[in-house]
Amino acid sequence: MTAPGWMVLKFGGTSVSTRSNWDNIAKIARARRANGQRVLIVHSAISGITDRLEKLLLAAQQGEYEAALQAIVARHQQLADDLGITLGAAVEQHLRQLREIATSVALVREVSDTTRARGMATGELMATDLGARFLAAQGLEVAWYDVRDMLAAEERDGANEKSSVLAATCDFTPDSALIARLNAGAQFAITQGFIARDSGGHTVLLGRGGSDTSAAYLAAKIRARRLEIWTDVPGLFSANPRTTPGARLLKSLHYDEAQEIATAGAKVLHPRCILPARQYDIPLHVFSTQSPDIAGTEIGGTFAGSAGQVKAVCVKKGMTLVSMESPGMWHQVGFLADAFAVFKRQGLSVDQVSTSETSVTVSLDPQANALDRDTLDGLVAELHSLCRVQLIGPCASVSLVGHNIRGILYRLGDALQLFAEQRIYMVSQAANDLNITFLVDEEQGDRLVEQLHELLVSSVPEDASLGPSWGELFGHKQAAAPTKVPSWWVAARPQLLDLMETRNAAFVYQRQTIRERAAQVRSLGLDRAFYAMKANSNQDVLREIAAAGLGIECVSPGELAAVFKAVPKLAADRVLFTPNFAAREEYRDAFARGVWVTVDNLDVVRHWPEIFAGQDILLRVDPGVGRGHHPHVRTAGSASKFGIPVAELDQLPDLLAVAPARIIGLHAHVGSGVFDIASWVATARLLASLAAHHPHARFINIGGGLGVPDRESHAALDLAKLAAALAEVRSQHPKLEFWLEPGRFLVAEAGVLLAKVTQIKRKGTTVFVGLATGMNSLLRPALYGAHHDIVNLSRLDTPATQTVQVVGPICESADVLGHDRDLPETEAGDVLLIATAGAYGRVMASNYNLREPAGEILI
Ligand code: LLP
Repeated sequence: MTAPGWMVLKFGGTSVSTRSNWDNIAKIARARRANGQRVLIVHSAISGITDRLEKLLLAAQQGEYEAALQAIVARHQQLADDLGITLGAAVEQHLRQLREIATSVALVREVSDTTRARGMATGELMATDLGARFLAAQGLEVAWYDVRDMLAAEERDGANEKSSVLAATCDFTPDSALIARLNAGAQFAITQGFIARDSGGHTVLLGRGGSDTSAAYLAAKIRARRLEIWTDVPGLFSANPRTTPGARLLKSLHYDEAQEIATAGAKVLHPRCILPARQYDIPLHVFSTQSPDIAGTEIGGTFAGSAGQVKAVCVKKGMTLVSMESPGMWHQVGFLADAFAVFKRQGLSVDQVSTSETSVTVSLDPQANALDRDTLDGLVAELHSLCRVQLIGPCASVSLVGHNIRGILYRLGDALQLFAEQRIYMVSQAANDLNITFLVDEEQGDRLVEQLHELLVSSVPEDASLGPSWGELFGHKQAAAPTKVPSWWVAARPQLLDLMETRNAAFVYQRQTIRERAAQVRSLGLDRAFYAMKANSNQDVLREIAAAGLGIECVSPGELAAVFKAVPKLAADRVLFTPNFAAREEYRDAFARGVWVTVDNLDVVRHWPEIFAGQDILLRVDPGVGRGHHPHVRTAGSASKFGIPVAELDQLPDLLAVAPARIIGLHAHVGSGVFDIASWVATARLLASLAAHHPHARFINIGGGLGVPDRESHAALDLAKLAAALAEVRSQHPKLEFWLEPGRFLVAEAGVLLAKVTQIKRKGTTVFVGLATGMNSLLRPALYGAHHDIVNLSRLDTPATQTVQVVGPICESADVLGHDRDLPETEAGDVLLIATAGAYGRVMASNYNLREPAGEILI
């Protein structure tokens, strides 16, 4: 039954669209033949033609199709000219049929699925005719076959009629008659991808990207020696190389891994093409037609590389989540069966599932489903009788793929910090141990892929399954993160060690970095920027920042006093007072000083009219969704004590009638340590739209929160992107002044905490390095689990040889500044440097245990 000697080579749309690619195809086919193989070529329509055929049918429905038809004719004529052949009788015949289809559609103004399939099929039929005649002209003995005589669509249970015609599947059991037919024919055979015939004799389609599947069906049917997929990238990569140039070529994969990668969103292989190859053990190779010499990806029955290595980070966009909640589902028999029966009735196929006692969440992939409004409304309506339903989307599903993926769970700690400031709607870990998937807001998808790839793939130089990166293959400079400038404290080391000669601990701030950050904030081009001095209220720091032209944001009478003490001549309109739960006198004093005042509770205006009547105020709005590096720093949403809910603003007219204050601006701050530019854009849009209802509102203050990477290796916030995104919003609201009030960004990296090692202690295998100060100076690790890089400044160039716990002298187990840190051999008296400690360091210090926190020095 087997037909040794046949190979199936599939070429995609780009591969069959130029003369140079066709020259390569001829070469490749010849080379395979020279190895004793016979070659069946399966290929797609010329690139762009399938879209043009769609457009033609649409245009015909509107009655005017001539231009669309001419574009299709012209594209084929052009390729024929490039290939040095005529358009030919067969292509002309297909074009005539296409015109007939268009004419009949134009008459009835609608297109049935069967007609659509017939129209779309002409793309492949025409392209393969051109291809066959080109190869023949090159001297190859080639026969053209109509694939509809080789592939029969199967009747599928549960599939609706539309998908039976437009996304059919075919039987692929070995077919001795077909083998015999091909054996009796020419050395080279050529046929179409994407199309097949159903039992009624009608043309059907295999769905977008279905040519890979056609090739796999044919390979299985003729028991091919191997299946080669020739496309425009030389294999599968660890991420999409177009957006992640550091993506590595995957040299070899198991069928299961390739299946997961294809299903998780990589576009190189169609997910359906793997099963037929796998079932008949046919090795599957992926190559690039443009670069045929690159080794490509080999997919087969063995796992290569180390277990637990992430092979690929993939993203799928446009996902919709359906969350079904029902307290009654706990221990209830048949709830899942009933719920999934609804999906079946609606013809929807489910991608990921996650369940708890009272809820089930599933994701729907737009590639597998027509997720139009009507379908989703129908689904929700039917599910409502069973449970509470919520649709969430659009979402991105970000998947980590590799065999034994559970083995990497412990390494995900770092990676998952990236999710700290955003919602993960669902996490699902595949039962086959091949993928872990996170569902997040759609606009988060690419950034997560980028960062997860950096952490879990790029950082692994050697793994048998990982080949060269895209950048290495194509000689471009890798667009990876620009090389980081070493932190200022590397060059300042002698000075810092000198300072520590006479001290046990100190916060040291560097002027230059503060100035640079202030210049960066000003370069954002907003109308005003205020420094949120709660991040660092050191007098010298305040003077530096005021001198750089920024205003100062204060939240307490103490901060107001400190700022006017540091800079007595500071104009009152450069100071903003944004307290939370402040006492009546605090507002009165602030108005007396003439500074801007922000109010975040309408009740105070209602109850203290004597304070607010006649005053200009800004209102702090709660946009409803908080963000930031830790729950403690997310300052929006109903559980948060900050801000006025948007809905409450409706009460303002009545309120202002009693207590006539003037609303001159709106403010929102959603949280701290945010890296997602969309956050400020969303805040700006919300405030600008609300401002339109307040005749006196001239200012919108979009808060602070600009994130600073807590590790040397992490990427910084892209300020140029932030500036561009805000500029766009501003251009739509030219009458409003835009304000920003960052704290951390200005001072975090300018400061370090230096502390002497007092003693080393070993307990079992654990090594504790004890410092002269701890959580009494820097509370962030204990309070938020925050990470600060730690180095032994006394031995900066000595390689790390041990993993230690860096602890302070406070009587609390939480007094740990760094868990599991790699340090060189360290001795009492060494100076350790705790990085990125300029923000929320000394200001949050205490003298707990009556231990004075570290003092401050500006250099
Ligand atoms: N504006 C308001 C209204 C704020 O509440 C804050 C910070 C800021 C601006 C400045 O946010 P920044 O740009 O610094 O992220 N202790 C925490 C941070 C708490 C932030 C409190 N509010 C930490 O150590 O991470």
